[in-house]
Amino acid sequence: MQPALISPASGTILGIPAYIIYILIPLAGVGIFAYIIFKRLAPLLKAAPDPRFNRIGERIQSVLKIWLAQWRHPRYMLAGVVHIFLFAGFLILGARSTQLVFIGFADGFTLPGFGGGFGDFYNVLKDYAATWVLIAVSIAAVRRGIFKPARYAVPPQYGRDHTWEALLVLGLIATLVISESLFEASLIAAELQKGLHAALVAPLTLVWLFKHLLSAASLQTLQSLHSATYFIHEIVFFFFLCFLPMGKHFHVITSLFNVFFMRLEKGNVKPVRHGVDDEGLDDLESFGVKVFEDFTWKHMLDFYTCADCGRCSDRCPANAVGRPLSPRFISIKGRDYAFKHYPLLGGNGGEPKALIGDIYSEDEIWSCTTCGACEQECPL
Ligand code: HEM
Ligand code: SF4
Ligand code: SF4
Repeated sequence: MQPALISPASGTILGIPAYIIYILIPLAGVGIFAYIIFKRLAPLLKAAPDPRFNRIGERIQSVLKIWLAQWRHPRYMLAGVVHIFLFAGFLILGARSTQLVFIGFADGFTLPGFGGGFGDFYNVLKDYAATWVLIAVSIAAVRRGIFKPARYAVPPQYGRDHTWEALLVLGLIATLVISESLFEASLIAAELQKGLHAALVAPLTLVWLFKHLLSAASLQTLQSLHSATYFIHEIVFFFFLCFLPMGKHFHVITSLFNVFFMRLEKGNVKPVRHGVDDEGLDDLESFGVKVFEDFTWKHMLDFYTCADCGRCSDRCPANAVGRPLSPRFISIKGRDYAFKHYPLLGGNGGEPKALIGDIYSEDEIWSCTTCGACEQECPL
């Protein structure tokens, strides 16, 4: 049977068969993403060791509780609940985004196990997920852009405001869910106009809303919308993927690993060097952390994973009494140093800088009471 609209894989873009472009976009996107990750791993490969493959059962439990169940998020109720919806939506929509990539060069592609009854159930679920993700990003954008909670503010000594990055990412996520819903709704509207069998549409979803809005549109308009929204979805999806390792949204990728490898002991301070007992201390050339590369790979992963939420600084007693310490900016400054000295283009950035003086101030470090409140509060 003739489909109601020309599918992405069967169309043309500027006279070129579209499937060629829809093979090249993911190849380029995944290639650039792999290159960025390879570069981001460079400082971790030079870092001090820290064995974290013990107590696997407890680590899996942490992942289930802190990562999957987002246990610490609702301590800040509105931001926490919004994030739970965003995170759940992403887990659900990940399968749809993967399917869409393949649809670009393999008409009617379905992921293994996503046919039949489960496929129908999934279609309804993903339509609701796209809808609640759009509501969640809208609430987050209003909080960020209009209400501006104090914990996100950047004091002048720490550089420029970070709101643009938050709003850009929220905008990209909104574009993804809107384009996916329009892509689907335009096809359903065309199928209904042509009297063909159309997929069931769950009420009060974005697809349902768009299907109603498009019911009187011409077939030509529906076709243009169908093709354009697919293109936009693919470009934004791979741009988003490559943008993640550029800043605070790196946590979307690193959070799983960071939580898995988290410190399980509480109430202690790490030894000067891992695996060196008291007698071996005399043989060490250097103690503690003098340059960035003296940090362990897990410290660096912590810096990469920081979502810039400011919850740690909000709970830090030193910060509360006006000492020059913000644990949030201990992470952000560490991350900024890694990005600057291990750039994406060119070699690694010359001589390591002294940690105290060049990155952190002495006052900042000595203001810490080692109470551990920041660690306890951090959702990541
Ligand atoms: C697919 C996975 C994820 C996505 C798409 C995602 C997305 C986001 C987005 C868009 C924001 C910004 C919200 C805003 O600006 O208000 C955010 C913030 C945040 N995310 Fe995630 N995230 C993911 C996974 C996680 C996980 C697993 C954790 C923790 C285990 C986490 C912790 C955080 C924290 C702490 C914030 C800051 C929240 C606040 O302001 O209180 N994220 N995330
Ligand atoms: S350990 Fe305590 S004093 Fe030190 S940065 Fe964390 S919350 Fe602040
Ligand atoms: S270290 Fe943790 S609590 Fe602090 S700003 Fe980063 S993600 Fe938030």
